[in-house]
This record gives sequence, C-alpha cells and structure tokens, in this order.
Amino acid sequence: MMPIIGFLGVGTVSTAVIHALCAADDFEARIVLSPRSTHRSEELAVRYGQCTRLGSNQEVVDAADIVVLAMRPQQMDEALSGLSFRKEQVIASFIAGSPPSTIAELVSPAKKIAQLIPLPAIEYGRGPLLICPEIPEVINVFGSLGDVITSDDETQIRVFSVASAFMSTYYEMQNTVIEWMTSRGIDESTAARYVLSELEGLATVGRVTPVDRLADLPAEHQTKGGLNERVRDHMISAGAFAALRAALDDVYDNARLRSPEAEAE
Ligand SMILES: NC(=O)c1ccc[n+]([C@@H]2O[C@H](COP(=O)([O-])OP(=O)(O)OC[C@H]3O[C@@H](n4cnc5c(N)ncnc54)[C@H](OP(=O)(O)O)[C@@H]3O)[C@@H](O)[C@H]2O)c1
Repeated sequence: MMPIIGFLGVGTVSTAVIHALCAADDFEARIVLSPRSTHRSEELAVRYGQCTRLGSNQEVVDAADIVVLAMRPQQMDEALSGLSFRKEQVIASFIAGSPPSTIAELVSPAKKIAQLIPLPAIEYGRGPLLICPEIPEVINVFGSLGDVITSDDETQIRVFSVASAFMSTYYEMQNTVIEWMTSRGIDESTAARYVLSELEGLATVGRVTPVDRLADLPAEHQTKGGLNERVRDHMISAGAFAALRAALDDVYDNARLRSPEAEAE
C-alpha cells in the first residue's frame, strides 16, 4: 500500500526534500503537510498532486504512516506536546542535535524513530543523507535521495553532523579563488565557470577513486616544484589544514546541539 508521509514543519529543509521526492519518477506515496508556513504549504499542495495541506498537526499525525519532524530544535517541545502518536507509526526526524533516544518520550508510544540529516543539495537529489538507525520504511521512502549513509549507532550522529559543518568553509574557499581571479583581470562569470568546473572535476575524480587511494590524490595532483605543490605547501605551513581539524574538534567537543541557541544545521 502507498505510504502516507506527514510533515510537521514545512520550512526550508522539508520543502527541499518534498521537491526532490515529488520530482522522482518512481515516487509512490502521499504527503500530508502541517498548516504552518501557510504560503509554503499551500504552494506545495497546489504544485504537487501528491501533497495535501491539513488543518492541524494532529490531523497530520493521524493520517501518516511516517511522521517527519522538521521544525527547529527550539520549536520541538511545543510542537510535539499534546500530540497523540500511534505505536506502529514511524518517526523520521530532521531535527539537529536530537538523536532518537532524546525524542522517544515526545513521540511515545511510537517506537521506530530515525534521525535523518539531509544537506541542502538534497533538493536536487544529491549529497549524503544520513539515516540512523536503518529503518526499512524510512529507507523505502527516502532511500533514493542522494547517497544514503546508514548507521545504527546514534552516538555517531554527532560526528556526521560536525562533518557537514564544513559546507560554508568549502564555499568560502571556492569564492576566494573566484575573487582572486577577478582581482587579476578575469571577468567574474568566466572565473566562476572555470572554478566551478574545476571543483566538479575534482569531485568526480574523488568519487571514482577507491577509498584506500584517496590519500594519494594530493600528491597525484601536483608535480615536484610545480604550482599545486607550492600552494599546498604554503597552506600547510600557514596551518590551514591543522586549523580545519582543530575547528572540527572544537565543534565536536563544545557545540551544544540540543539547546534553544543551537545551530540548526
Ligand atoms: N536547513 C537545513 O539545511 C537543514 C539540514 C538538516 C537538518 N535541518 C533541521 O531541520 C529542521 C528544520 O530546519 P529548517 O531550516 O527547515 O527550519 P525552518 O525553515 O525554520 O522551518 C521550520 C518549520 O517548522 C514550522 N513550525 C514551527 N513551530 C511549529 C509547530 N508548533 N507546529 C508545526 N510546525 C511548526 C515552521 O512554521 P512557521 O514558518 O509558521 O514558523 C516552519 O515551517 C531543524 O531542526 C534543523 O535542525 C535543517
């Protein structure tokens, strides 16, 4: 039977996931939406025949086989309190910093709870999608979005979350090279086209390289005394990669992921 997926919270991440699901040719499910974010939920319901906007959060929970929790961490307690879930219902939570064991009480008696970490590229069906733990009903619905990575150990979720905290740094690097090119007289659109294509090519090589050979890629992309070696040596001497590692360690050790001030990403 076609599953019904209920979204509680129709913000940025839900909208991206719903676009990706509905764009897939083989998507066979119905989607019900909570009424908040009126404009967004109405727009999705008008655009996609599979989507229906319901009148309340409880109506969504009542209708759904899989309930997606997609409000901000600080909105979760208020949104879920007073809702009645069913024992056999599956919960798929996008909420950062709240692993399954920490929301179990809020969705009781539902027992099958997974955390999903979609990244922005999910809108285009690309990028990693962490699912923890691996629940067949969740894989069945979301498994075709991007590259699904599963884990059955919720203590690992924090590691994956921190690894995704590298996104804005990546774009900062990308834009630094584009800006440097324009400062040397290349027009911006040509510089952007060049750098974006370069990065896409590098990512492609990374994807086709066996994991046990990834460590060789830096050396394989530089020649002795060449331009790449000089830039990389400069970055190593400046402590750039040590700083990146230290930043990841710092966020891993010190970020308060489940708090009203938590970074919701
Ligand atoms: N954005 C990302 O790339 C990303 C990636 C991975 C995980 N996440 C996680 O996904 C969750 C959502 O993030 P987001 O960026 O999509 O946030 P967002 O754009 O602020 O969306 C939050 C949604 O929740 C709704 N909401 C708030 N209180 C509600 C309630 N009581 N009942 C029903 N709906 C309620 C909001 O409605 P109103 O607009 O009416 O307030 C809005 O539709 C967060 O927990 C975040 O940690 C986000």
